[in-house]
Amino acid sequence: MRKLIVANWKMNPDSAEKARELFSATLRAAQKIRGAKIVVCPPLAYLGLFSKNSKISLGAQDIFWEDPPAGGGSFTGEVSAKILKNSKVEYVIIGHSERRRLGETDEIINKKIRQALKNNLKVIFCVGESERDETGDYLQFIKEEIIKGLEKIPVKLFKNLIVTYEPVWAISSKAKSGKSKFHPDTPEDAFQMATYIKRLIISLFNSNCRNIPVLYGGSVDEENAKEFLEKGNVDGLLVGRASWNAKTFAELLKNIK
Ligand code: PGA
Repeated sequence: MRKLIVANWKMNPDSAEKARELFSATLRAAQKIRGAKIVVCPPLAYLGLFSKNSKISLGAQDIFWEDPPAGGGSFTGEVSAKILKNSKVEYVIIGHSERRRLGETDEIINKKIRQALKNNLKVIFCVGESERDETGDYLQFIKEEIIKGLEKIPVKLFKNLIVTYEPVWAISSKAKSGKSKFHPDTPEDAFQMATYIKRLIISLFNSNCRNIPVLYGGSVDEENAKEFLEKGNVDGLLVGRASWNAKTFAELLKNIK
């Protein structure tokens, strides 16, 4: 199966011109590799600048949880599934820890996932604990995030579901310094977590869910990406900072080739 490499641009770059340059460079790098599918998730304002092609699919970083009523939707600042689909968007990130930190609850995440899946968008559903404890409570925490995020969503819609394990302590530039509670994860730990999540999904839902891809995200860069893919039992990567720099991302893609 082709690995999925998701470039989460977050709130970058700061101009349309730079966004075009980054996209073109990403496309050139993507054209040189096989065996991986690249998804670029730019800020909403830039989505219309790009069109998907055989190498790159487009993803959004958020979605609203309702269809607009007939006659128009009065939801200032929000973006509907239909708008995304009409902008050639195929994927949407939901449940990212940076949005949870801004107040997005499991209930909201559940509504967004349902809405996206109902509209045939592919959902990159992020889960991950903030801290590790020795008693293993973090496993229960992730289990609850998955149960609550997917509650009452028909399993038949899971064909478009992708789960991403992103430990919050491994996201952020601070993770590299190793000085605070932030530090990068290891491929060995990612292996255990991806295996746990895959088994959990099968036990919670059914064995038809065995093909739901699980990605890893958190301080993935050009140096560790290959190892995460080879040793992490993951079907792809969610890349933040390393995807905002054209050279770094090209190097990352080259290294996983
Ligand atoms: P990072 O971000 O690669 O910069 O740690 C990953 C993410 O938050 O999606």
